[in-house]
Amino acid sequence: MNITAIYGSPREGGNTDLLLAEFVRGARAAGAEVAELALRNYHFSPCIECGGCNDTGSCILKDDMDQIYLYLRQSPIICLAAPVFFYSVNAATKAMIDRCQCFWTGKYLLKKPLSRERGCRGKGYLLSVGGTKGQKVFDCVMLTMKYFYDALDMEFAHSLLYRQIDAKAAILNHPEALKEAYELGMTAVKG
Ligand SMILES: Cc1cc2nc3c(=O)[nH]c(=O)nc-3n(C[C@H](O)[C@H](O)[C@H](O)COP(=O)(O)O)c2cc1C
Repeated sequence: MNITAIYGSPREGGNTDLLLAEFVRGARAAGAEVAELALRNYHFSPCIECGGCNDTGSCILKDDMDQIYLYLRQSPIICLAAPVFFYSVNAATKAMIDRCQCFWTGKYLLKKPLSRERGCRGKGYLLSVGGTKGQKVFDCVMLTMKYFYDALDMEFAHSLLYRQIDAKAAILNHPEALKEAYELGMTAVKG
């Protein structure tokens, strides 16, 4: 089984990176092949709202999103890790999500949902971390992710969310969180 793990944070070795690395370790231990993509290593434009995908369900911009699209189209399991920035996901993650408007168009305007191309509905996962303890800190993130996975025509299967984790690698002081991420990776594969 192929899994795509997307590291959304600009901070290499930060909290969501460490959580996702554990998810990946768990998924590999359960027998999955995992592709790891760090958005900070890809260069792509935000959506320019040109309407170029309306007739085809494909984005007309030519940049590194072309590589990411391949994984988004084909993987039956995707796990995205992204920190909370100003109550939403960080900018690179949001830019990638906005570039998935072509999948929304494919699904809702052209009636060609990605699940048909993928051969299954597939499952999406989220790992997120915020520095504060605000009760609503993940509200926008969760809504954004719900509609991101909907555009990919996947079930938003599970999320792990951790508050009050701020300094780089502070999540290492929370071994139970790392264990949860590892176990989620295993569960994602075993079902
Ligand atoms: C630009 C910026 C905006 C942030 N906004 C929030 C926020 O709205 N709420 C919050 O709880 N934490 C916020 N944080 C803190 C991060 O979510 C926190 O440091 C997190 O651990 C970063 O994860 P990472 O190491 O995976 O990048 C913000 C941090 C930055 C740099």
